[in-house]
Amino acid sequence: MPDTYDLIVIGTGPGGYVCAIRAAQLGLKTAVVEKRATHGGTCLNVGCIPSKALLHASEMFEEAGHGFDKLGIKVSPELDLPAMLAHKDATVKSNVEGVAFLFKKNKIDSFHGAGRILGPGRVEVTAGDGGVQELAAKAIVIATGSDSAPLPGVETDEERVVTSTGALELKAVPKRLIVVGAGVIGLEIGSVWRRLGSEVTVVEFLDRILPGMDGEVAKQSQRILQKQGIAFRLGSKVTGVEPAGEGLAVSVAPASGEGATETIPADVVLVSIGRRPYTDGLGLAEAGVALDERRRVKVDGHFQTNVAGIYAIGDVIAGPMLAHKAEDEGVAVAEILAGQAGHVNYEVIPSVIYTMPEIASVGRTEEELKAAGIDYRVGKFPFTANGRARAMNRTEGFVKVLADAATDRVLGMHIVGAGAGEMIHEGAVLMEFGGSAEDLGRTCHAHPTMSEAVREAAMAASFKPIHI
Ligand code: FAD
Ligand code: NAI
Repeated sequence: MPDTYDLIVIGTGPGGYVCAIRAAQLGLKTAVVEKRATHGGTCLNVGCIPSKALLHASEMFEEAGHGFDKLGIKVSPELDLPAMLAHKDATVKSNVEGVAFLFKKNKIDSFHGAGRILGPGRVEVTAGDGGVQELAAKAIVIATGSDSAPLPGVETDEERVVTSTGALELKAVPKRLIVVGAGVIGLEIGSVWRRLGSEVTVVEFLDRILPGMDGEVAKQSQRILQKQGIAFRLGSKVTGVEPAGEGLAVSVAPASGEGATETIPADVVLVSIGRRPYTDGLGLAEAGVALDERRRVKVDGHFQTNVAGIYAIGDVIAGPMLAHKAEDEGVAVAEILAGQAGHVNYEVIPSVIYTMPEIASVGRTEEELKAAGIDYRVGKFPFTANGRARAMNRTEGFVKVLADAATDRVLGMHIVGAGAGEMIHEGAVLMEFGGSAEDLGRTCHAHPTMSEAVREAAMAASFKPIHI
């Protein structure tokens, strides 16, 4: 007789582990199934956490080399790459161990192995040693995440032609790094290696970087990243990567298909053209679970698939592929299963790109508001006019607040600037409460702080800023 649970969660990334913890807190007998050796999924093992450890360390290295001097500090930094990678590995270790601790604390049973759905309420777990066991539960949550989308005709070996996983493990700084795709991964990991000494060229299919981000924000970010030394080839595609002596020969053609193909030399190529939902070996077809046209698991407004008792959350379903979106869905589905009213507000999901300066956004972009025919006002404030930014020599970027022209309700906030990833939550909280630009503009902000620029942008959208 298989063990019986209220809930089995397959996959322990931010979606799955948070779902399991919330379910256990609400009194559900919960088990998790994870095929990796450690919990935490893409985010903790090979994504958010290791990339932020390297972004921070490489930023400190760059500051020490080309930033401290402007503050009157003379140092000559030397890179110890193995130690930097060890800092990243230690950060990952402490985070994944934290998840294992939380599972124990919440009395969640953890099964290591690949989970396969045999039918409603039945999950088979195949361990690394081939051992198979069957578990039973009233509900199953699929939280199997995503993996890197392949570039047709280009094989990755995670050493010279890498996905983000290999790019966070390089044993030496590549002299020339070619990044395919000017999305979030390309800009973050491209920034890491550029700071550590690589010549970085980003090849992007579209005629802009960061599709989906506010156009003005993307343009300004491109200018800043170019100034830092990253080269962009927009409207271009990589059509092949071949070994050439010690290095690689990368074929780059115009995206339109018209025009000559160029060959660019490189030492490492990072393929970062998006991620795709991961459902391999899960038995979804046999269980009758429907996928959408992009092979994402289809769910209803309560995260339930077309098969009763089988739910899905996170990167494997539609929506932004972000850890906090997965977490919020995990909480919501656990609450729904416990008889509560779990809910995710998709209008207010912040997004942060951890370059220097950071690029952060919540709510609608100008392009989206125009397309929806919504009348809006724009309030902008540059960090060059902010005292704290000047004191810290961090004057790049601006805050932009978009407010409904009729009601003054804030519909979007976009920030390029140091600490943008923290400041954006002023916009998120305000929008969650349906607040107006005037509400934010009249909220006293401590002086001197970068956040005063957020207030001034809100003032600019609603009445008048003081400092410009
Ligand atoms: P995942 O984290 O992908 O977890 C899925 C888990 O399921 C994995 O552990 C996998 O091993 C397991 N699994 C799959 N199939 C099975 C099976 N059959 N049986 C058992 N286990 C299975 N997002 C942010 O919000 N902020 C960031 O800064 C950020 N940085 C990123 C940096 C990089 C380099 C990458 C690649 C991604 C980054 N992301 C970031 C995205 C973020 O990692 C994902 O959105 C998030 O991990 C999705 O969570 P999830 O729980 O849906 O899936
Ligand atoms: P992405 O979707 O952000 O960007 C991919 C880019 O590649 C796009 O600009 C696209 O136009 C371009 N592209 C697609 N095909 C191409 C081709 N053949 N040649 C050249 N360019 C091409 O995807 P990315 O950067 O791989 O990241 C995947 C996901 O991971 C992101 O969507 C994001 O949700 C998540 N992530 C989030 C982070 C964060 O929140 N800070 C950090 C890293 C990843």
